Amino acid sequence: MFKYVATSLQDTARLGAAIAKTIRQNRVFLLYGGLGFGKTTLVQAVAREMGIKDKVQSPTFNILKTYHHGAYHLCHIDAYRLEDHEEDLGFAEIVEKNTTFVEWPEFLKMNEVDQNLIVTIKINKIGEVREFLVDSLDQDFLKELEQNVHALS
Ligand SMILES: Nc1ncnc2c1ncn2[C@@H]1O[C@H](COP(=O)(O)OP(=O)(O)OP(=O)(O)O)[C@@H](O)[C@H]1O
Ligand SMILES: [Mg+2]
Repeated sequence: MFKYVATSLQDTARLGAAIAKTIRQNRVFLLYGGLGFGKTTLVQAVAREMGIKDKVQSPTFNILKTYHHGAYHLCHIDAYRLEDHEEDLGFAEIVEKNTTFVEWPEFLKMNEVDQNLIVTIKINKIGEVREFLVDSLDQDFLKELEQNVHALS
């Protein structure tokens, strides 16, 4: 686990850029944190670094939206409105084909996903300071991500 502290939008953007630079296979990023903590903002930064021109917004009405640029396939899921309905999104196939970011993963059923591909990011907000707690079973990935985010700072 490592902690990354963001005191500005640029700091959050750096973490997003580092994520885009570090991924070499499709992974699943589970974004935990309250309303307005900066989950969507982080995904926007990842998309920018991937060269995706579309503005990533909260996919509130369709729950899921995919974006593509070159070899990059990004899926952004906001499970907030799923609540406990356990709708089947075909998550396993989505994860196989995209780098996937999930806001409100508490509401999504996701067995079947290779645990090694999961990266959890827990966001705490203290005033205007955001702490991102990043963790994964894949220690090599974690180490590389941490190095990349510091290299951008
Ligand atoms: N360092 C920062 N990192 C991220 N967002 C920031 C930061 N500083 C200010 N903000 C602002 O905080 C808000 C975060 O909103 P965002 O939509 O990313 O939150 P969210 O976690 O996706 O919320 P929701 O659960 O409602 O989807 C934005 O208006 C953004 O401009
Ligand atoms: Mg959001």
